[in-house]
Amino acid sequence: MNKKVVSILVTSAMAASMFSFAASAEDELITVGYAQVGAESDWRTANTESFKSTFTEENGYQLIFDDAQQKQENQIKAIRSFIQQEVDYIVIAPVVETGWETVLQEAADAGIPVILSDRQMDLADDSLYTCWVGGNFVKEGETCGQWLADYLEAQGRGEEEINIVTIQGTIGASAQIGRTEGVGNIVAQHENWKMLDMQSGEFTQAKGQEVMESFLKSYDDIDVVICENDNEAFGAIDAIKAAGKTCGPDGDIIVVSFDSVKAAFDSMIAGDLNATFECNPLHGPRVAEIIQKLEAGEDVEKIQYVDEAYFDTSMDLESILAERLY
Ligand code: AHR
Repeated sequence: MNKKVVSILVTSAMAASMFSFAASAEDELITVGYAQVGAESDWRTANTESFKSTFTEENGYQLIFDDAQQKQENQIKAIRSFIQQEVDYIVIAPVVETGWETVLQEAADAGIPVILSDRQMDLADDSLYTCWVGGNFVKEGETCGQWLADYLEAQGRGEEEINIVTIQGTIGASAQIGRTEGVGNIVAQHENWKMLDMQSGEFTQAKGQEVMESFLKSYDDIDVVICENDNEAFGAIDAIKAAGKTCGPDGDIIVVSFDSVKAAFDSMIAGDLNATFECNPLHGPRVAEIIQKLEAGEDVEKIQYVDEAYFDTSMDLESILAERLY
């Protein structure tokens, strides 16, 4: 055999072994398809980052990420594409609670476990998903309502007529349904509280501002605005200021919201927002722990709530903000 032929054979053998090493390394990765809601809020951005920084190749995963732009039909398409790609796990943060049976049955038929994260699904057959991890939205709403009762009482306004408006989240989303219900449970305990209006701000700052502008045109005696996420509150605050009114602890209108993202702390420190009720978005490591347990053949709890706090302007917000991860 001449030198040239030997060299070609050696190079081909090396290339083949490198290829098979790369292929086997890839085979060992756990493939996870994540059907994300969209990029509507600071919370959602932190949630996406949590998944992307957890499900890395260094950690043993291949993440296929899909941003559904707040549309259920896009999430259904993404799930079908994950099934076609034969992923090991499907993770879904469902835009809304209903309408998932068919596509989840397709995932079940393909033998792919489905993990729900953040929002829940309303299904006739709960065996269509393995487990869910997220915040307790009803509890968040009740904590908000109780905070308002205590705050008004402390201000000597416990018996006063209180006019409330709510900028809701995406209608049909667990976070909207739960927070509306939770606040409603506390409103029902106060005969002097009146819910003047509720409209969706779709969890975005722009829509929150638009809805607040229309509330301010329709009602001139708003005492409280409940925003079902922080970004809606940022928009509402802009609308309140543009209408020549003030808000926050020293203002005309009490503004409260949900999520507790860093920008909400800035808003409270600036004296605009009164309080924010936490919804923790850092679900990447929690879902990874679930997947590791399933890989080890262990059982996982079906419903897993995460602990959540609240923050208001009576607290040392600078110190809390310095430690905040999102
Ligand atoms: O489902 C969680 C909610 O969705 C967060 O409160 C909100 O910011 C996001 O859009």
